[in-house]
Amino acid sequence: MSVAKPLPHESARLHVTGTARYTDDIPAPSGCLHLAFGLSEVASASLDTLDLDAVRAAPGVVAVMTADDLDPMPDCSPSNRDEPLLCTGTIHYAGQPLYLVIADSHLNARRAARLHSAGVTEHKPILTIEEALSAESWFDGGPRIWTDGDVDAALESAPHHLSGQIEMGGQEHFYLEGHAALAQPSEAGEMHVFTSTQHPTEIQHKVADALGVPMHAIRSEVRRMGGGFGGKESQGNALAIACAVAARLTGKACRMRYDRDDDFTVTGKRHDFRVAYDVGHDAEGRVLAVRFRHWTRCGWSQDLSLPVADRAMLHADNAYDIPVMAIESWRLRTNTQSATAFRGFGGPQGMLGIERVMDHVAHVLERDPLQVRRLNFYDDTGCEVAASGGNISGAKTGRTHYGQAVTDFCLGAMTDRLAASCDYDARRARVAEWNAVNPVLKRGIALTPVKFGISFTLTHLNQAGALVHVYADGSIHLNHGGTEMGQGLHSKVAQVAADRFGCDLARVKVTATDTAKVPNTSATAASSGADLNGMAVKAACDTIRARIADWLAAEHQADASSVVFADDAVQVGGATYSFEKVAAMAFAGRVSLSSTGFYATPEISWDREAGQGRPFFYFAYGAACSEVVIDTLTGENRILRTDILHDAGASLNPALDIGQIEGGFVQGAGWLTTEELVWDDAGRLRTHAPSTYKIPCASDIPAIFNVALWDAPNPEDTIYRSKAVGEPPLMHGNSVLMALSDAIAACGAAYPALNAPATAERVLAAVRALK
Ligand code: MTE
Ligand code: MOS
Repeated sequence: MSVAKPLPHESARLHVTGTARYTDDIPAPSGCLHLAFGLSEVASASLDTLDLDAVRAAPGVVAVMTADDLDPMPDCSPSNRDEPLLCTGTIHYAGQPLYLVIADSHLNARRAARLHSAGVTEHKPILTIEEALSAESWFDGGPRIWTDGDVDAALESAPHHLSGQIEMGGQEHFYLEGHAALAQPSEAGEMHVFTSTQHPTEIQHKVADALGVPMHAIRSEVRRMGGGFGGKESQGNALAIACAVAARLTGKACRMRYDRDDDFTVTGKRHDFRVAYDVGHDAEGRVLAVRFRHWTRCGWSQDLSLPVADRAMLHADNAYDIPVMAIESWRLRTNTQSATAFRGFGGPQGMLGIERVMDHVAHVLERDPLQVRRLNFYDDTGCEVAASGGNISGAKTGRTHYGQAVTDFCLGAMTDRLAASCDYDARRARVAEWNAVNPVLKRGIALTPVKFGISFTLTHLNQAGALVHVYADGSIHLNHGGTEMGQGLHSKVAQVAADRFGCDLARVKVTATDTAKVPNTSATAASSGADLNGMAVKAACDTIRARIADWLAAEHQADASSVVFADDAVQVGGATYSFEKVAAMAFAGRVSLSSTGFYATPEISWDREAGQGRPFFYFAYGAACSEVVIDTLTGENRILRTDILHDAGASLNPALDIGQIEGGFVQGAGWLTTEELVWDDAGRLRTHAPSTYKIPCASDIPAIFNVALWDAPNPEDTIYRSKAVGEPPLMHGNSVLMALSDAIAACGAAYPALNAPATAERVLAAVRALK
């Protein structure tokens, strides 16, 4: 068996020896040219004149392209055709590409791209939520509203009420490898494009659209990314399109990469949100009704903002069975970078709203927040059945505000196990004792749950393809629609292939994702890479395996079902052949050793207008407990200890999954603590490099950090009964924000109502407000 083993990442050796090749490491073809965008410095203006004489005269410049040179103007949007590659007269944000420099070197292109002089008529930019609302600047035609029950009546009849709001900032992806692309022109208008993208088919589609050629003329390829985190779902389109149009103009290969400041300035980030709530609850802390209002700044173009804001609405319940709920969601158009996908895709923002509600209710009632959370959990009786791998259709279920049954809810049992293993009750008592005698350093602790829906909410995206070749020497070439960004997807699908053939993992080579091998793929996103592509690979392998088995059985007058693939060998009718030998024999026997495979997720359906259906095939669960300490004189803080119990189903690879959980948690904690995006009053992003934007580093990892897997098979029929693990752990970072709030609450009687990111400044301000 290759699955379920804690095997290292398939490229680990290449990563640590510096020999893993990324897009910008591809050796330059002869005569290769280099591109850079000239960027707008103002956020909202009309572009009246653009003087590029100095740009054109700069050393090494081969050509300069403006909107005048591109008719029709290529569009970069993944959704709405509202993203011209270059500014066509209206400047929408500071950082928007105005023109394209083509030069003989990367540095010459970048140097020249600073020499323009733009004549603009500035407008007052729309930057804040208030400014967008008063200008009626929004997408989706107005607010999206979903209601589940009569919220006014339920709020009115509830015995206790509270209201409040939480603001949470955006987040820069800070993938270690910035965006990069390379386009190589071929004969007859064909183009081979290499991009650091999570979505090779989107690159193929957008480049074909930009060049006015059919998709068959464009081949889009990605070996791996040095991190994507959602930031490479749509934001790579501009580079790939720029390279392709420049390559067509010059007939030369063209490449482009953003340096870190440009990557910050040009590309979109996580959506910031304000979530307001009106809550009706009882004296024990049972939440009877909630009205949420979401406001999110989407930036200048629509990009993926609608499904992101939808997913926030879909996670407004998190783990809690709220009888009556209404959500109003405003998707605001602002003169900032176009906010985009980021690990969790709106889920974290929606979830944090209800976590804040639970914490606030507990504070008002002076109860342990964990007790209040547990009181509101979905029904847990499906858990035992699910954990035994049994049929859960008979179990009692809860129902989400969008009408999906919650059948395998296990967070009651998971929380019990985590609270016991991390000694929650005793440590909570110790925190209280510490805070009673220590005036300066205050501690806080919080245990928070995660329930995250798995599937693309756009139902047709839930499909995948694979292409498998067994060569005559017994080596296996494996290709599928997913991309590798460090998460270990290629390792997992290789494990699946090796398991289907019962062969050594070393036989299997996952090759670069390539639209010429597997067409019409979805982005590697929504955590569903292994779920979708693993199943497609399984189907392809099983087709080839069945052909080999049929042929071998006929040769041996045996039954095909008696042929066994195991231990890197094949047994048939009493004989055993090495896998290598079988491949050679099947080839000589003229058996087709190549197959495609396909998978479409069953059972999902979703009506976005009504906000009703089963958008998710299943849920992934987890719980985290964090303890923090704050310095009430400076606001400085540390995570002292974090314990996580996470549900990856029957894990395909526990080592990779634990890596995803650790990394996800740290990234989530960074979002909610130190990572702060600051735009000035003119709409310029002032935090655009590691000097001003602080992601967690190794020393920010909790000194005590325990991660365990809740090892229960997925009750749904997923690949080897595993569960998706890419995004859900990010939301364990919620425990850190709640623990910080708990520590601040020790400084006074009022509720801290801490906003995120809880930087040292914000913690200090919250402490002062309480004192
Ligand atoms: N892990 C690493 N190391 N690098 C990444 O870029 N992206 C995350 C997650 N884990 C990411 C990662 C995001 S946003 C998603 S959607 C999933 O991986 C995508 O991969 P999967 O579907 O194969 O889990
Ligand atoms: Mo992940 S945000 O779905 O790329």
